[in-house]
Amino acid sequence: MTTDSYTKTEIPLCAIDDLEDRCAMELVIEERQLFAIRMDDKIFAYWNLCPHRSSPLNWVPNQFLDVENQLIQCALHGALFEIDSGLCVAGPCSGDHLQSVELRCEDQFYYVAANQQMPAAPVNLRAQALADLEDKE
Ligand code: FES
Repeated sequence: MTTDSYTKTEIPLCAIDDLEDRCAMELVIEERQLFAIRMDDKIFAYWNLCPHRSSPLNWVPNQFLDVENQLIQCALHGALFEIDSGLCVAGPCSGDHLQSVELRCEDQFYYVAANQQMPAAPVNLRAQALADLEDKE
């Protein structure tokens, strides 16, 4: 069984002016979380999964940067990532990359590109446990 999924259509994200410099926004596509950060006059986006433990990077909505607003920081163990490349430059997954989200920009408006691979959907442990209980009855 393959777990690969792809974005089916292009999805509007935001206009460049909707985000202040070094600010982020989140979006959910088919249960997968992504976040986008503006740096100068460009927006970069990544699936919200830390390469260390595949957990979300943030605890606070739309908060992804370190205190200096220079690097993306994982809230769980503190890994630091470059905003423009997703490269982990410090922490337990140093040298790994965030999984980038391909964007398309037209007239200063950004879209999540269609036909790109998405990470596996998160497992709903509660629903799975309930289904297991029903199977046993
Ligand atoms: S889960 Fe991100 S650094 Fe450990």
